Order: sequence, then structure tokens, then C-alpha cells
Amino acid sequence: MSPELFDQVVLGWMGLAAATFILLFFISAPYGRHTRKGWGPQIPARLGWILMEAPSPLLMGALFLLGSHKSAASIAFLVLWEAHYLHRAFLYPFTLSNPRPVPVSITFFGACFNFVNASINGYFLFFLADHPASWLADPRFVAGTALFAAGFVVNRWADLLLRGLRAPGETGYKIPRGGPWELVSSPNYLGEILQWCAWALLTWSLAGASFAVWTIANLAPRAVTNHRWYRERFPDYPPARRALIPFLW
Ligand SMILES: NC(=O)c1ccc[n+]([C@@H]2O[C@H](COP(=O)([O-])OP(=O)(O)OC[C@H]3O[C@@H](n4cnc5c(N)ncnc54)[C@H](OP(=O)(O)O)[C@@H]3O)[C@@H](O)[C@H]2O)c1
Repeated sequence: MSPELFDQVVLGWMGLAAATFILLFFISAPYGRHTRKGWGPQIPARLGWILMEAPSPLLMGALFLLGSHKSAASIAFLVLWEAHYLHRAFLYPFTLSNPRPVPVSITFFGACFNFVNASINGYFLFFLADHPASWLADPRFVAGTALFAAGFVVNRWADLLLRGLRAPGETGYKIPRGGPWELVSSPNYLGEILQWCAWALLTWSLAGASFAVWTIANLAPRAVTNHRWYRERFPDYPPARRALIPFLW
């Protein structure tokens, strides 16, 4: 595929993200606390997470092996991607505390998204672009990697505090407390958004930007819905806590 055609494909993919962003303010994805009837059969959450996320690390690894670019910068991209996705696909599911089952439809859409997203990013990084080793000293890579690490820490910290909320056998919801939860209602989403915005910066690419846009499209509307959900259910919900952006929104 020519670079020009590739850019057109990625722009179309970003247009789909914009439509999804608007749609998700009206229809929340039916998993977790927003599960409801009418979305088809369900499977255990751990299996759903593995099936949904596994395409990302596997495909990225395969594209790296098949690709023509294997500089130190290419290896750094692969390491950052896999650091996130090997955890998300194969470890995170087993850390969840009594998660609700997920609809097969959500698993299928999630897997399709991960397939396309990893294809776009892997194809760009390992077939089209040719980052020399000197890219590792570029301010965009250095700043992006620092922000990626910050987002990674916030995301993992928030998810860690979340899973400590349920005692063995419990399935209900409580007000999360401590750390980043004191500032916003979805700090795990905030960390994730920070990570993939940082990815766009450190790869300095339209492919990376498309992932950042999709992450915002998926998670910002859900953060708003979660915030409203907490406020409706818990009269003592901390009034100063924002939805997604500390002190602002
Ligand atoms: N890149 C992307 O586009 C994308 C998209 C989606 C998710 N993610 C990431 O995937 C991870 C999980 O996302 P998610 O939407 O499933 O997160 P979530 O709604 O915060 O749920 C995570 C886990 O914590 C439990 N939980 C949530 N709130 C709770 C509370 N108040 N009290 C007790 N337990 C609670 C949930 O149980 P239940 O299952 O019973 O609800 C679930 O097992 C996050 O790190 C997120 O950033 C990324």
C-alpha cells in the first residue's frame, strides 16, 4: 500500500472514531456496570478480555517479525506496545475481582478494533516508516515515552485500587477511594488516554494519532456516564471529584 493510500485509510478510520465518540454519549457499551439485556449471549469476563485483547500483542509481534524495519527505535516501539498489551491481554483478566460476564458482541467488536488498530500501527512502524536509532534521542520520543510511562502508572495504579474494593465473593460496587480516585471518577481511563496520546507523540504518526483519537472516543463518553452513575447511586459521592480531567471536567 502506498503511503498516500495508507493515510487515506487512517483518516477514514479516524472519521469512524469521531462517529463512535458521539454515539457513545447516547448508547453506553453494555459491559460492566452498564450491562443490560438485549445484547446477546455472554461469556465469562476473563475469557472475553483475552479474546478481545490478544490480537493486539500477537499481531504487533508478527508484524515486527515480518517487517523490514528493525532499528533500535523499532524495537523500542515494540517493547512499549507489548509492555501494555501483554499485561492487558494475559495478566489483567486474572487480576479482576468477580467481574460481570461480557456479551459476545462486545468481545467481537473489541477484537475487531484491536485487529485493525494493531494492523495500522504495526504496518506503519515496521513497513512504511523508517525510524533510525537516532529517533531515540529525539525530544518527541523522549517526552512521549515519559508521558507513556506516567499514563501506564496511573492506569495500573487506578485498576489496582479498584480491584481491592471487593471482598472475596462480593460483586457490588463501592466508592473508590485513594490516589487518583480522589480527583476523577475514571482515573484508569485517564491513564489509558494519556498513554495513547503519548504514543502518538513518541511515534509522531497519523497511525499513532488514530489510536489516541479512538481511545478518547471509547473512554471519554464512558467516563461521563460512569461519573453520572456514581452520583446517582451514592448520595455521599465526593462532590469535588470530576469525571475525567482533574479540577476541570
Ligand atoms: N483503549 C481502550 O479503548 C479501552 C477501552 C476499554 C477499556 N480499556 C481499559 O481496560 C481497563 C478496564 O476497563 P473497564 O471499562 O472494564 O473498567 P471499569 O469499569 O473501571 O471496571 C474494571 C473492573 O473493576 C470493577 N469495578 C469497577 N468499578 C467498581 C466499583 N466502584 N466497585 C467495585 N468494583 C468495581 C469492574 O467490575 P464489573 O465487571 O462487575 O463491572 C471490573 O471488574 C481500564 O484500564 C481501561 O482503561 C481501554
